[in-house]
Amino acid sequence: MVTAKRWVLVKQFVGKPKESDFCLEEETLPDEVNDGEVLCEAIYLSVDPYVRFLSSVMMKPGDTLVGEQIARVINSKNPKYEVGDVIRLSSGWRTHTLVTDMSQIDVMPVLGDLPVSLPLGAAGVTGLTALFGLNDKLKPVEGETVLVNSAAGAVGSVVGQIAKMKGCTVIGFAGTDDKVQWLTELGFDHAFNYKKVDVDEALSMAAPNGVHCYFDNVGGYLSTQTLPHIHRNGRVLIVGSISTYNDIGKSTGPYPFEDILKKCMTVNGFSIYDMYPKWRDGEAQLVDWIQQGKLQHRETITEGFDLMPNAFMGLFEGTCTGKALVKA
Ligand SMILES: NC(=O)c1ccc[n+]([C@@H]2O[C@H](COP(=O)([O-])OP(=O)(O)OC[C@H]3O[C@@H](n4cnc5c(N)ncnc54)[C@H](OP(=O)(O)O)[C@@H]3O)[C@@H](O)[C@H]2O)c1
Repeated sequence: MVTAKRWVLVKQFVGKPKESDFCLEEETLPDEVNDGEVLCEAIYLSVDPYVRFLSSVMMKPGDTLVGEQIARVINSKNPKYEVGDVIRLSSGWRTHTLVTDMSQIDVMPVLGDLPVSLPLGAAGVTGLTALFGLNDKLKPVEGETVLVNSAAGAVGSVVGQIAKMKGCTVIGFAGTDDKVQWLTELGFDHAFNYKKVDVDEALSMAAPNGVHCYFDNVGGYLSTQTLPHIHRNGRVLIVGSISTYNDIGKSTGPYPFEDILKKCMTVNGFSIYDMYPKWRDGEAQLVDWIQQGKLQHRETITEGFDLMPNAFMGLFEGTCTGKALVKA
């Protein structure tokens, strides 16, 4: 028998997630598997803001928290998987999984010598969100100015680097001086600690002719301050709104519509799941850039499955740089 641990949602979040919203439970899984099944144990688990955003539609009290993990096969009666194989799995916040539905397993990109955690971050959903959000939706061209917020996060740090590869001027906002320093090392032309600067003044200085492409991960106050600085016919992609995920009640929206009207902006929402047919090619591109040293990545790894809620709550306090992960 295998003792599995899983984190369960006790009740729907109200405001900021808190410790009492989570409960750690144990369950016993058979160590023998039936034909077609695979038993695996988690190595790395992904920690993602969407779990808060979509919690009320994806989970009900008593459910295992949702999310992806990288896991090692420890028993298999499925000819596609051998003991020792490393797989990417959508089975939520759990240490061990008996996989009976193979659609839970997603193909891993070919990584060579790169860390196996990468398909949860820079070579996975967050990297793809940056790649497709920028290239397929905002479509910046050389010489344009691109602005991204939560710029030292998993998505934002990749956005800025791809925009630099395309010959754009890149502006990033992040919440600590260390993060700002990292953005400078990544080649961002302008990086600001939004907690210390006047955002309006910073943008007047960094983008005197306006921002052509705004990749918005944050929403709220930062977007309200940013919209007046968008160039005429500028493009805005709403990818996330982490500053409002913990708001109680329905968001009335931070977007000053007069600015959108005056500047004839294009404002779109984005879901990475609409781009699923392109994921394999996108991951291969991201891996190639990482192997060539063109794309840098960071991970903030919390050690210990029991600390999953702490890592998750840390997303809303800015405790992570790059991709937030838990090592089981
Ligand atoms: N549309 C899609 O398909 C899709 C896919 C993936 C992710 N997303 C969204 O994209 C965004 C980025 O995702 P990610 O996984 O890369 O997460 P992330 O940016 O790494 O998120 C954590 C960071 O958010 C920042 N943050 C937290 N609260 C904030 C606030 N009130 N104001 C400003 N910044 C705040 C913090 O950085 P600072 O220290 O800089 O404050 C924190 O470290 C999220 O909104 C996520 O929901 C959307």
